Amino acid sequence: MLVKQLVFCFFFAVKILNRKGVVTAILGISAFYHDSAAALVVDGEIVAAAQEERFTRKKHDAGFPSQAVAYCLSEGGLRPEQLDTVVFYDKPLIKFDRLLETYLAYAPSGFKSFRLAMPVWLKEKLHLRRTLRKHLAGADRARLVFTEHHESHAASAFFPSPFERAAFLTLDGVGEWSTATLGTGEGNQLTFLKHLLFPHSLGLLYSAFTAYCGFKVNSGEYKLMGLAPFGQPVFFEQILKHLIDLRPDGSFRMNLDYFNYCQGLTMTSEKFHRLFGGPPRKPEALLEQRHTDLAASIQKVLEEIVLRMARETHRQTGMTNLVLAGGVALNCVANGRLLREGPFENIWLQPAAGDAGGALGAALFVWHQLLDKPRQPASQDSQHGSFLGPRYGSDRIAAFLTDMKAPYEKPDTEDELLTRVAHLIGQGKVIGWFHGRMEFGPRALGARSILGDARNASLQSVMNLKIKFRESFRPFAPCVLLERASEYFDLRPDQESPYMLLVAPVLEKHRTPPAPDDRENKPAAGDLLERVNRVRSTLPAITHVDYSARVQTVDSQRHGRFYRLLKAFEKLTGCPALINTSFNIRGEPIVCTPEDAYRCFLATDMDVLVLEDFILVKEQMDRSAAQAAHQRHLSQFEPD
Ligand SMILES: [Fe+2]
Repeated sequence: MLVKQLVFCFFFAVKILNRKGVVTAILGISAFYHDSAAALVVDGEIVAAAQEERFTRKKHDAGFPSQAVAYCLSEGGLRPEQLDTVVFYDKPLIKFDRLLETYLAYAPSGFKSFRLAMPVWLKEKLHLRRTLRKHLAGADRARLVFTEHHESHAASAFFPSPFERAAFLTLDGVGEWSTATLGTGEGNQLTFLKHLLFPHSLGLLYSAFTAYCGFKVNSGEYKLMGLAPFGQPVFFEQILKHLIDLRPDGSFRMNLDYFNYCQGLTMTSEKFHRLFGGPPRKPEALLEQRHTDLAASIQKVLEEIVLRMARETHRQTGMTNLVLAGGVALNCVANGRLLREGPFENIWLQPAAGDAGGALGAALFVWHQLLDKPRQPASQDSQHGSFLGPRYGSDRIAAFLTDMKAPYEKPDTEDELLTRVAHLIGQGKVIGWFHGRMEFGPRALGARSILGDARNASLQSVMNLKIKFRESFRPFAPCVLLERASEYFDLRPDQESPYMLLVAPVLEKHRTPPAPDDRENKPAAGDLLERVNRVRSTLPAITHVDYSARVQTVDSQRHGRFYRLLKAFEKLTGCPALINTSFNIRGEPIVCTPEDAYRCFLATDMDVLVLEDFILVKEQMDRSAAQAAHQRHLSQFEPD
């Protein structure tokens, strides 16, 4: 009680200060699990947000986000002393309680995983106040606040959304105890109505199949989703019969005999392996039909659960808008179905839906929910296109290119620049595109992107194998002018998807008839590359085997120069879409600085690099430098 009163007094004092015109700076932090990040909110405005991996070049970096914090403060023009609140995105003591209880429930069989987890808990996580103070030298005046994991996710979904009122759904692996929640956001307050608790978790269920199919947990879920359309959901009934007890409201209980994450170091148990016909696939081993069928089956189960939960959320709240966050909200195939099949009229998805976004949500939670500050939803949203990271000016880039002795072109006007780039794309060149503030969240949205001509049938395999060095089956996504998106994809004319989190079918009129074996969704998985390369539409490079596409809509307000580039390409070719994939190779975080972009460009078969106003063409460069860079760059990043 005393603690509550003290917290109240603190926030009351902050309110009084604010009446005198003092700004309130809140720094949100997520760290120590995966995808560490920092976010800065000043007087309710999202000023900056970035993931630590982009600076350290270590994918999913889980360390304290020192560089992301330093960046956020510099973007806001603040010193650590000027921070009012530092908020951590979950409550470590409750999490530790869950860890202990789980261990005791399975003791002694979980001792090995418990022993491995303990040192980092004892060293850092249990003493998080001390750890945060240690890392945030100078911020002694700032109050430390800890929000619950799903409060952070729900806040990241609702507060930046364009809605005055919305239902929310958070879906992830696990936070403290909650694994999924639903509730409402109204004005500046969130209300939680229902929780699903550990060990029953949609995120962990999907991750178990991710691991079983040979992909990394917390990063390979995307690959499993991309693999699903190659298979048939033949294990759907088996999963529902043996693995989970699914109820009409979308809640479920998992049969823990089939899983090992409570007590072991693996996700699945021997019983799971017996049920699905063998041991887990080794990373990089051949993908068999069984794996594609498993991917299709668990994807169908996930969609069924998400749709049921959404219907339950709608039933309980009666609202017409839905917002989503949590790692499962990155499953854009499920999101696409949710949008098409209802029951909600409008959906907004937090682009940094995973734990990185928890830093932003926690900061917004303090501002609105705890400080009770009013909220004025913006007509699009308050996420600023998720361009919340650092930008690098032309002067710095010019100096860098001079240092590198790199030949470049610098057109006099933006028009000339965009026309030149549009021509290069039209000629089949692959472009590294670096412009403006870096994206916050896992997707490249036109600030740190690799672009290509979506009409070019050979580009998918070229880009997968020679530029990204990744698995041949993985699809690429299109970016498309918002005003023309519904001409190509099954989307409402006004439906935005600025964060590339919705999968929509390519319209029939753009499809080419399937080959007979394609229609039956055969042959076996060994021929994935051959199947990927078949032309399925007038935009073959971005049309997946099931005629779907993960669409990003591009509009003039959010996307500025990137929008104008698409307009230039449309003017030249009539086509309003491009391939848009993240600017990195497999295992590498998306590039952050011009130096990162230049290294990645040199090391791959990318043809052109556009660094703000400068164009570099590989053909005009010294090939030996590129060849030397190739191995050096690749050796830095472990394939994910
Ligand atoms: Fe989470």
